[in-house]
Amino acid sequence: MFLSGVNGHADEPAQRSAHVIVCGNEKGGSGKSTTAMHIAVALLRSGYSVATVDLDGRQLSLTHYIDNRKRWARQARIELPAPSHFHVPPANRDTVADMESEEFRQLTEGLTEIQHNHDFVVIDTPGSDTFLNRMAHRIADTLVTPMNDSFVDFDVLAKIDPISHEILDLSQYASAVRDARRQRRQTDSSILDWIVVRNRMASISSRNEQKIDACLRNLSIQLGFRLADGISERVVFREFFPIGLTALDDFEEHILGTKPTLSHLAARQEIRQLIGALRLPTDEVGRKRAALRKRYAEAISRPIALPDIFVN
Ligand SMILES: Nc1ncnc2c1ncn2[C@@H]1O[C@H](COP(=O)(O)OP(=O)(O)OP(=O)(O)O)[C@@H](O)[C@H]1O
Ligand SMILES: [Mg+2]
Repeated sequence: MFLSGVNGHADEPAQRSAHVIVCGNEKGGSGKSTTAMHIAVALLRSGYSVATVDLDGRQLSLTHYIDNRKRWARQARIELPAPSHFHVPPANRDTVADMESEEFRQLTEGLTEIQHNHDFVVIDTPGSDTFLNRMAHRIADTLVTPMNDSFVDFDVLAKIDPISHEILDLSQYASAVRDARRQRRQTDSSILDWIVVRNRMASISSRNEQKIDACLRNLSIQLGFRLADGISERVVFREFFPIGLTALDDFEEHILGTKPTLSHLAARQEIRQLIGALRLPTDEVGRKRAALRKRYAEAISRPIALPDIFVN
């Protein structure tokens, strides 16, 4: 993470630290907070130090999820690893500029404190285009975009022809990600790895879903994102929230508060697949891949060197 990237000063000394994962999608209710919590717990359970940031200062879903987890651990007398966490509350100022600058100050102060003593920072964002949301996208190393399995949600990425399903135009969110990517590359030569994951998939695949899948595959090439295997619609995901659990926690009856089911195990399997698909720098291969991405970004932003003979 580079705070110089947030400030936009490319000449500031860069200091490498925590890997930043942002869960983002301007569409509300697509599963950002649920995904953020699952990624954070997956990394904690793998032994990494993790901090989480809630930029949805109005809803505070991730903040409440973590509070519920701590409360449940106390109540059930169990050990549940929890991330260091902070949220940025909406600033109350007279002008938009003052509001943005206050929220920005709170974000940078919070990040400054956590960036050097955590392996990962997971940021949950609101389902709307806000100043802080854009900042988060600019400092992301990995962007995870969950989207509901419908053409209504597809609209957040691109406009498509209703008959041919041909992609006609990029949507505002896709353009914002493209801009964030460009700025990040200019600031510190890093490449944002963007992963889109279909969420709340129906157990029986319909023709409509097959069309969405085909359109997404087509769009992934144009927009440069990777498509992860989807996550099914499962009641257990909604049941986890009030007790702050995730599909990665132990499924013993005294922890779950209920008997584990096949659905719990299937949910865990899907989340593990998603974590694998993120290709985070958690092992030697992941770290090498991240270093290669950085070298590639540096190479493509450098002007092509011409042999001296052309200069004369
Ligand atoms: N795979 C799933 N199966 C069933 N319910 C799910 C699944 N994923 C998320 N949900 C539920 O959908 C609702 C919205 O999820 P979540 O709050 O994670 O979305 P969000 O993108 O953060 O929403 P917002 O834009 O409002 O912040 C929640 O009630 C959550 O429990
Ligand atoms: Mg949310």
